[in-house]
Amino acid sequence: EVKGRFGPLVGAIDQGTSSTRFMVFAARTSELITFHQIAFKSKLPREGWVEQDPKELLATVNECIAKTVENLKGLDISAADIVATGLTNQRETTVVWDSKTGEPLYNTIVWNDARTTVTVDQMIAKAPGHSADYLKPLCGLPISTYFSALKLRWLLDNVASVKKAVEEKRCLFGTVDSWLIWNLTGGTDGGLHITDVTNASRTMLMNIHTLQWDVSICKFFNIPMEILPEIRSSSEIYGYLRDGPLKGLPISGCLGDQQAALVGQLCFKQGQAKNTYGTGCFLLYNTGTNIVQSQHGLLTTVGYKFGPKSPAVYALEGSVAVAGASATWLRDNMGILQDVTDTETLASSVEDTADVYFVPAFSGLFAPYWRKDARGALCGLTHYTRKAHIVRAALESICYQTRDILEAMNKDSGIPLSLLQVDGGMTSNNLMMQLQADLVGIKVVRPSMAETTALGAAMAAGSAEGIGVWDLARENPETVGSDHFHPSVSEDERDIRYAKWKMAIERSLGWHE
Ligand code: G3P
Repeated sequence: EVKGRFGPLVGAIDQGTSSTRFMVFAARTSELITFHQIAFKSKLPREGWVEQDPKELLATVNECIAKTVENLKGLDISAADIVATGLTNQRETTVVWDSKTGEPLYNTIVWNDARTTVTVDQMIAKAPGHSADYLKPLCGLPISTYFSALKLRWLLDNVASVKKAVEEKRCLFGTVDSWLIWNLTGGTDGGLHITDVTNASRTMLMNIHTLQWDVSICKFFNIPMEILPEIRSSSEIYGYLRDGPLKGLPISGCLGDQQAALVGQLCFKQGQAKNTYGTGCFLLYNTGTNIVQSQHGLLTTVGYKFGPKSPAVYALEGSVAVAGASATWLRDNMGILQDVTDTETLASSVEDTADVYFVPAFSGLFAPYWRKDARGALCGLTHYTRKAHIVRAALESICYQTRDILEAMNKDSGIPLSLLQVDGGMTSNNLMMQLQADLVGIKVVRPSMAETTALGAAMAAGSAEGIGVWDLARENPETVGSDHFHPSVSEDERDIRYAKWKMAIERSLGWHE
């Protein structure tokens, strides 16, 4: 098939925690041709609660697609050059909706929502030995507020309309990928109720060995299995867009956003890792087809599965709940920043944090601590402390949390990482990248195209059987342009500062009993 001047194009819907985008890439060169992005804010109805309107998420997706198609027209590129689209999404965020009316039964409960602390306690109390890790051998995850199973249990226990819809067999559950795909492929008129292995591996309900919903886990949480979507691979033609300017386009790739970034960063070999700085921050380490159980607080998750017949590739993951979210908090809640992009200028206006340490444990602490009782702490304030010091401490907190994860990762793998491949919105902050190199003591490598999440979803879609325009074998990390940041402080200084960070962590623990 003859296509326009860029050859075949592949789209990627990227529905994240703080924004939605639709991006279009050239399959032959991986070049980003155009995109549209809409930022939105989560609702915070109570302390610890984080929700979004599922319909608003869907509306932003449709608007991003429409605006991107307009952009293409402006560039004199035919939308017909797009041969497929992939989808990538914020993970764990839980949606329940009515299969008959298509209406959501509740707002989404977002991944960083901490309302399920009591549910977590109840589940741990019923686990043999009261172990939070009881299900880890099956699903790779500890019992935590983070995962969908707990959020779904909470909905079944606390929202009468959800319970009723389950009884009347009209309740569907999904993570954001499922909700979007169901709607985009027809909704009440035959929409596909599916998810992919990477998203399913974040619910806590999938057995990571069989890649199917696990009967014993569902029993443990008392989750009715008929409301769960069908689990598919990350790269295959699932269905077609039912409406809109790209009506009829195959949807042929689906991955959780962190797994998509692993693909987009070309971490296809065992031992390769990437760290993505978004709302949270997530370091994934490819362990090949081996399921590695962490001894140091990391998660075992599915990295990708390229096609129904291909084997799943697994990853160890260190999840940090608050990264970019600390900058939005400083802007929206504290009024310290006008714009999150001001962090670099403000933090650069001082030489250091003046010994201020900021632990943004707003939803407890995730990896490697898994402490839902932790809360945010700001330590070391004096008469001298200014806004800029706090902003700089917020940037450093992301770097220290990454060091926490790296230490765990190095212990688990036995082979210390020699460089850190980074991506995501916050990596445009050069000061933070330098601080990151200083505080972990290894080289930090940032690709010139930082939109690796969407790229990964496009790669999965473009290489699916029946689409076949993206040659994954051609991808060569060596040829990807990148910026390098080298550590510039002494080992002693690095360790002294890290020890202080650990003291600040101690102070954040046990606050929320
Ligand atoms: O697990 C949550 C993660 O998928 C959210 O990613 O980029 O929206 O912070 P992000």
